[in-house]
Amino acid sequence: MCGIVGYIGTKKACPILINGLLKLEYRGYDSSGISTMENGYISNMKDKGRVKNLYALDGINDLIGTSGIAHTRWATHGKPSKENSHPHMDNSNTFSVVHNGIIENYQELRNVLEEKGYTFKSSTDTETIPNLIHMYYSKDKNYDEKRFLRAVASTCKDLKGSYAIEVLCKEYPDVVIVARKDSPLVIGTGDNENYIASDIPAILEYTKDFYLLNDGEVVEVYKDKINFYNCNLEKIEKDVKKIEWDATSSEKDGYPDYMLKEIYEQPRSVRETIGARLKNNEVVDFEDIHLTKEYLESVNKIYLVACGTAMHAGLAIKPMFERLCKIPVTVDIASEFRYREPLIDNKTLCIYISQSGETADTIAALKLSKMQGAKTIAISNVIGSSISREADYTIYTHAGPEIAVASTKAYTSQVTLLALLALHFAEILECSDKALIEAIKNELLLLPEKLQQVLENVTEIEEFAKKVYTEHDIFFLGRGNDYAVALEASLKLKEISYIHSDAYAAGELKHGPIALIENGITVVGIITDPVLSPKTVSNIQEVITRGAKTLIVTDQALENGNYDKVIKIPKTHPMISEILTVVPLQLFAYYITKEKGLDVDKPRNLAKSVTVE
Ligand code: F6R
Repeated sequence: MCGIVGYIGTKKACPILINGLLKLEYRGYDSSGISTMENGYISNMKDKGRVKNLYALDGINDLIGTSGIAHTRWATHGKPSKENSHPHMDNSNTFSVVHNGIIENYQELRNVLEEKGYTFKSSTDTETIPNLIHMYYSKDKNYDEKRFLRAVASTCKDLKGSYAIEVLCKEYPDVVIVARKDSPLVIGTGDNENYIASDIPAILEYTKDFYLLNDGEVVEVYKDKINFYNCNLEKIEKDVKKIEWDATSSEKDGYPDYMLKEIYEQPRSVRETIGARLKNNEVVDFEDIHLTKEYLESVNKIYLVACGTAMHAGLAIKPMFERLCKIPVTVDIASEFRYREPLIDNKTLCIYISQSGETADTIAALKLSKMQGAKTIAISNVIGSSISREADYTIYTHAGPEIAVASTKAYTSQVTLLALLALHFAEILECSDKALIEAIKNELLLLPEKLQQVLENVTEIEEFAKKVYTEHDIFFLGRGNDYAVALEASLKLKEISYIHSDAYAAGELKHGPIALIENGITVVGIITDPVLSPKTVSNIQEVITRGAKTLIVTDQALENGNYDKVIKIPKTHPMISEILTVVPLQLFAYYITKEKGLDVDKPRNLAKSVTVE
């Protein structure tokens, strides 16, 4: 759960590396470091804390090397400290390594190395890698130009777990060697220079031409050529992929934080999600996933599997899938699903939702279901992400890069895309009322405009947030889709504001949670479903009677009910209302967090992609 960057070319590497790390801090930010190839030696500078601390290191401005590797860390093995920061070097200071992932057998490898006299300065799993490389390098008496490459490839064969690594060798100053397994890595190519990164936004301002690496591949990156190999060091060919993202779209565009920018991007991101699928504004087009009527008729169960916010997107769309496609749908948390021996066979369709496409539990769950004969579809926001390479089919949300740790625009795009997929299946299966399908399509097309309206009406949310930002507990209530949004709103609030928060299905209130309601407590009610509204209204009245302060998000014409604040949003079809109702609640979490003076983009203990269990 870290970020890595690399450069080899004709310019000074250090500023390029630090600039790339700053863009990757969302992947981890408890320590960082860089190694550059200086005249005859490898410089290694690192420290605990944010990437900007690197600027203050003694001698950092004197680095002149034109190749280097860099890392921003989110601790897994070993506490955040200078010693545990990357890059790590071998005992002879010949090799420097940065690593993203976890080496599961590192203790075993460390024991072997210690028996051979190697010593370790850190408590990381990574430090075994440069020393193993050194071990293989020293054994190899063939002093040709591939000796460094062979040492890295042999080391990779010993590693169990996940890794994306970059390696420098002081005896081979013209090359950076990289390799990956179950952890993302891309190479961006330019004129007489090449870039390496765990994530495209880190280097997007320098190039749009990328090579995406697959598991097991090892690569020699020179400034003017790139040699790709499989794990047996047989040469392979790769095609360059053009990444059309605009470099500025991964910057803040004048907003104070990425989160606010991403919340405000939702009219556009949802339009992109729809535009890619609703051809001529009427035909739902998923021709890239070839699922026939015969196959869909054979499906007796759909699993929607994901983690966190992505799992909430699954919960929000489950009712629509069931009602339109008449197939039972189970929403599962990936970390539970993968260990609970779920019932899967070739009649099961598994849909995996992951913004980053790198979430370890989601990928593991996908692999499991594939092995048991299910067809798999991945829904991801990151082109070429690991999950997209594992699934039978991948559909992209096209929400654009999401940098803030708290997911906002990815959620609305995930729900939108899943709604389109449900419509597509229903059209193939011919099992739903055509008028209903058309009505939902029409409402989907109006969403960007309605999202814009929601975003133009934020003052009252900000005012209410200012009233309650010192609270210790805030509760969210809703029924049906509104309950799914309550769960997401509660997660958003707790993860960035650190206020304890829970969401309940409003009908469950009387079965326990109402005991928590006391004078002055804040309760947020979400009320959109016209059928369920009267029931939720009664539940809210029960908490008001017990002294709760209430914020209501609704598209209904509610009678005066002594609510403290009512946020009115535009009406849409009740099956997709969550795409609108979630937005004021994202802003509610945002404004509370700002009022508390916290860093909204980088909440404590969290990282953007969770590439470890
Ligand atoms: C919450 C959040 C997380 C992610 C979860 C899954 O705001 O961002 O809960 O939704 O870690 O991440 P992806 O979608 O990348 O698999």
